[in-house]
Amino acid sequence: MSKSTQWWKESVVYQIYPRSFNDSNGDGIGDIEGIIQKLDYLVELGIDVVWLSPIYKSPNDDMGYDISDYQDIMAEFGTLEDWDRLITQMHEKGLKLVMDLVVNHTSDEHPWFVEARKSKDNPYRDYYIWRPPSEDGKEPNNWQSFFSGSAWQYDEATEEYYLHLFTKKQPDLNWENPEVRHKVYDMMRWWLDRGVDGFRMDVINLISKVEGLPDAPIAKPEEKYQWGSDFFANGPRFMEFMNEMKEEVLDHYDILTVGETGFVTPEEGKQFTNEEDGVLSMLFQFQHMDIDAQPGGQMGKWEIKDWKLTELKEIMSKWQVELYNKGWNSLYLENHDQPRSVSRFGDDEEYHKESAKMLATWYHMMQGTPYIYQGQELGMTNVHFPSIEDYKDVEIINLWNDLVETRGYDPDKVLHSIHEKGRDNARTPMQWDDSKNGGFTDGTPWIKVNPNYKEINAEAALKDPDSIFYHYKKLVQLRKEHDVIVYGEYELVWESDEQVYAYTRTYEDQSLLVIANFKKEKLEREWPENFHYNESDVLIQNYDEAPKVEDGKLTLRPYEAVVYKF
Ligand code: GLC
Ligand code: CA
Repeated sequence: MSKSTQWWKESVVYQIYPRSFNDSNGDGIGDIEGIIQKLDYLVELGIDVVWLSPIYKSPNDDMGYDISDYQDIMAEFGTLEDWDRLITQMHEKGLKLVMDLVVNHTSDEHPWFVEARKSKDNPYRDYYIWRPPSEDGKEPNNWQSFFSGSAWQYDEATEEYYLHLFTKKQPDLNWENPEVRHKVYDMMRWWLDRGVDGFRMDVINLISKVEGLPDAPIAKPEEKYQWGSDFFANGPRFMEFMNEMKEEVLDHYDILTVGETGFVTPEEGKQFTNEEDGVLSMLFQFQHMDIDAQPGGQMGKWEIKDWKLTELKEIMSKWQVELYNKGWNSLYLENHDQPRSVSRFGDDEEYHKESAKMLATWYHMMQGTPYIYQGQELGMTNVHFPSIEDYKDVEIINLWNDLVETRGYDPDKVLHSIHEKGRDNARTPMQWDDSKNGGFTDGTPWIKVNPNYKEINAEAALKDPDSIFYHYKKLVQLRKEHDVIVYGEYELVWESDEQVYAYTRTYEDQSLLVIANFKKEKLEREWPENFHYNESDVLIQNYDEAPKVEDGKLTLRPYEAVVYKF
């Protein structure tokens, strides 16, 4: 059992989606120079590490997650020299830089794939996963792409199919081929030697597929979204490949590694992150992100369902308890693939400020390394573009073509799902001020700005001592001042309560009691017996004053959150 201290356990990470962060030259696309200009904003917020979504050369079919050169920068974002300036200035300011590592697949425009598709005996052929058509001349198996349609694309030149779990411009690399693996390790070392402080590993637990690539059991064709992840997630050789990567690369550097790992249980999470023989510092699990989707729904994540607070408690508590002293987790409510948390879990209208701060407090006080996605610290909200034409994300466009154009679903219903769940909710430009385009660009932004930028923007937040921004800043500071926030043991209080989420953290002689009202209603609760209210300090709260406790009764206002320290 280990509970070592590590810099990445004590850090807070801020995610930048470079395309939408800050445009320095008026072409409507965020860029590296734009990030450099905003480093002092990040210093003000107090974060320690930046995770930068991909900035590599890419035809942008999936906005940079389709890479055509791992060792060069996308022209719109700048040059390698700009990147060197970025990391030098970040290090001077005490910030670390974690890069996105996208190695489950490349772009179809990557020179490896350009070669591979030329002929069956090309030296690069085996870098990818090719299969002849099935006996009846169809796809080699029934696997579906995450972005709609078959996961196989037929290639005329050699009359075979290649596998792509994402778009057809993202062919999956063949990790069974040791040459592929060693090319990846070389590339990782190249970045690490240039100064990178870690990697966020894109869909990393998909790299090992089940032998023979059998059909997934799908009962009816209309259940196509139900197909099993069992055939490619946490596959048979995943740990072997990761151990090799660890020996070859990761063990030689003091870095933060975070695996994007869908379909994992806490049991697997422990295996991947434990300090004896784990392979990653931490991971991103998805169970709390799936809470509002109908399990096995025909439309996957797009089929929205109501959820109960007790369900959220069960998920979060399981991860908190099972990883304690055995592994490490990351804590997140948003990223570039998820809708905005205040719209999803809080109230983006009447109680915008209160609920954004409540959510922030609630997840930052748990165990794990917190991640803040750009604009989350301002309470940026979902956007409701009126037309499919306004959307840029390939997942959204493919969904629309598949459901509306091909299968005749009700367009209003699908648009509603996109408003609630679409990835472009997170990708509208960062709102810096109330000038045109929210100060993101002088030109025409590549995607429309959320019209609420006049009220919700960084300039306004920095002027308002009571802003969501300063609440985040305080949460980041508190983590630096109180070991209990980093290392304390978690325990759930009021388990069956459907309105209030309360938990404690305990470390040596310090304890915290965190109370968060997830509802719009005013509520009354019995003060928990074993805590002596009179001996408590309030660490942070989201109203002017901490909630009232009278005659052993605690009154909570809408979305009220408070942290007591004992
Ligand atoms: C990850 C990324 C997502 C991307 C996908 C394919 O889930 O976060 O943006 O589309 O992998 O690379
Ligand atoms: Ca630009």
